[in-house]
Amino acid sequence: MYLSCMKHLVKEEQYQKTKAIVVKFGEPGGTGELLQKKLLERSDKTYNWVYDYWLEDMYLNQRLALPVNSNPAMVFPKQNFKDRKDSLRFAAHLITGVLEYKERIDTRVLPVDFARGQLAGTPLCMKQYYRLFNTYRLPGHKRDTLVIHKPGSTEQEYIIVACKNQFFVLDLVVNKKKLKEMDILTQLEKIVKMAENSEERQPPFGLLTSDGRTEWAQAREVLIKDSVNRESLAVIEKCLCVLCLDNPSGMEVGDTSRALLMLHGGGHEKMGANRWYDKPMQFIVGEDGVCGTVCEHSPFEGIVLVACTEYLMKFMTGSPSKMGRATSVSELPTPARLLWKTTPHIQGLLKASAERLQRLVRDLDMDVHKFEVYGKEFIKKQKMSPDAYIQVALQLAFYRCNGRLVSTYESASIRRFHEGRVDNIRSATSEALAFVKAMTDQKDSEKMKRLWDAINAQTNYTITAITGLGIDNHLLGLREIAQELKMEMPEIFTDETYVASNQFILSTSQVPTTVEMFCCYGPVVPNGYGCCYNPQSDHLLFSVTSFHGSTETCSAVFIKALDEGLVEMRDLCRKSNKPQSSAAPAASKVAENNQGAGIN
Ligand code: COA
Repeated sequence: MYLSCMKHLVKEEQYQKTKAIVVKFGEPGGTGELLQKKLLERSDKTYNWVYDYWLEDMYLNQRLALPVNSNPAMVFPKQNFKDRKDSLRFAAHLITGVLEYKERIDTRVLPVDFARGQLAGTPLCMKQYYRLFNTYRLPGHKRDTLVIHKPGSTEQEYIIVACKNQFFVLDLVVNKKKLKEMDILTQLEKIVKMAENSEERQPPFGLLTSDGRTEWAQAREVLIKDSVNRESLAVIEKCLCVLCLDNPSGMEVGDTSRALLMLHGGGHEKMGANRWYDKPMQFIVGEDGVCGTVCEHSPFEGIVLVACTEYLMKFMTGSPSKMGRATSVSELPTPARLLWKTTPHIQGLLKASAERLQRLVRDLDMDVHKFEVYGKEFIKKQKMSPDAYIQVALQLAFYRCNGRLVSTYESASIRRFHEGRVDNIRSATSEALAFVKAMTDQKDSEKMKRLWDAINAQTNYTITAITGLGIDNHLLGLREIAQELKMEMPEIFTDETYVASNQFILSTSQVPTTVEMFCCYGPVVPNGYGCCYNPQSDHLLFSVTSFHGSTETCSAVFIKALDEGLVEMRDLCRKSNKPQSSAAPAASKVAENNQGAGIN
């Protein structure tokens, strides 16, 4: 499968070399067989043989800065706040919703999710929900650590509020009583006032968390030499979540600018320092109505984040804020400001982090686009999988911009398995290549046939990946076992094709929502695109990112090609009166085969 995924993406000479390496690896009694045996032994001993390997490879070993490169953001609908107090009321209501949701997690009453779409109906692993509010990504010199606090522990009953780059502790339980919404609002008002006091203002330490992971780990080592800093860090690391109260950014408020503010805060001159990027759940409430969340990705996937934020959005609109007179206001202690000890060395580190964040901000090229010509209902009417169709359209757009196809990542949920996270649907199939080529120089009948082939190949790959038979996790498992055995790294993993196969120039993900909001994230390689899409009945929303620093990419150009391609694909479907139903059963056949093999 690996060879067929890569054959059309590398030069023929390189492919022949890779083929020989793969054949040698798979020989009876060869390295592949040995590693597979060890991997099977590991699967006997663990709940999920790939989870730890995957977590380290995907997140903890990565050294790039979290904003843009790793942390996805969810952009809430734009709010129309009358004044600061109105935005604080919203924030207090949001935190009340967070507490209600957390209680559902702690008391384990969240209903089990079931798969939708392809192979619908299977129950899904819920573990990721239990890491929403009790985790922290601790920077390390070579590898970060995902710290997990015991869920529901009482010492964790507070949030950190960031305001004007200052950090405050908002206790949510005082004298064993949970704070009411009115109390939370009172505390937020006190925090805003305290943040304005310039005499007590602390340096913008949150900036350090926006830096490369090794740089931040090194800076942290300097910081913790002082007990004041040590204490402040310990408090942040154990909080439930961070609430960032942002000042107006001064940017014109549109979908793209709101997405940018969520991803990187606009740099240190805007809101970039009013963040703590290591914390998995970070809510942003801007006075100008720009709201959302930016999340450290290692504990959970976007789908779980959607479930949580949709609950919160429904809570916000469905339940009136309870601003009745609170009983305990007078007893509420003043929220504590976190203090930092700084030195000229630390000041230098802050300056360096600020500069590096600024570079990232300048480099990000983002375009949020609502394609309104049609949505997933039109695609379903063609008897095609909307997700497969969109993936094929993305391939077409990339081909038109670059004249070739490249290794593509589409996240496929494997929550059908205990502790399952994702595997990769390699959407740049040979059938997709044949289709995109046909779109430039073939007759309509040929184009339609190629479109069906591409859709079927994509749908089949999806089913393969979501049932645990994708190749990326398997290859990763074999590679990591070789590493653990301290073997010389097998050539299959040092080969040029393998390196290319892991450079996801197109990194894509479907994150659908049922309420008005959208997800976005950055590219994963310097010359790549990040493309997050949200298919709705009558429109498709795309958040496309790339880096200005690359001469090979431009988000607006990609969006234009995507837009045109989607219209052409619709016209093609319309022209060919009947969908070719004979091609459709291929997908269900794979599903049957997989289930027959006892998967799940
Ligand atoms: N004809 C008509 N309708 C079809 C169809 C066809 N041939 N194939 C699919 N459909 C329907 C489905 O029944 C489904 O209907 P629903 O909207 O009523 O539920 C709908 O179209 C969507 O199905 P499809 O487009 O095929 O996609 P999917 O929902 O199965 O999603 C993945 C595919 C890969 C995106 C999904 O399995 C997945 O893994 N999602 C998680 C991605 C993720 O983790 N993202 C976050 C990363 S941080």
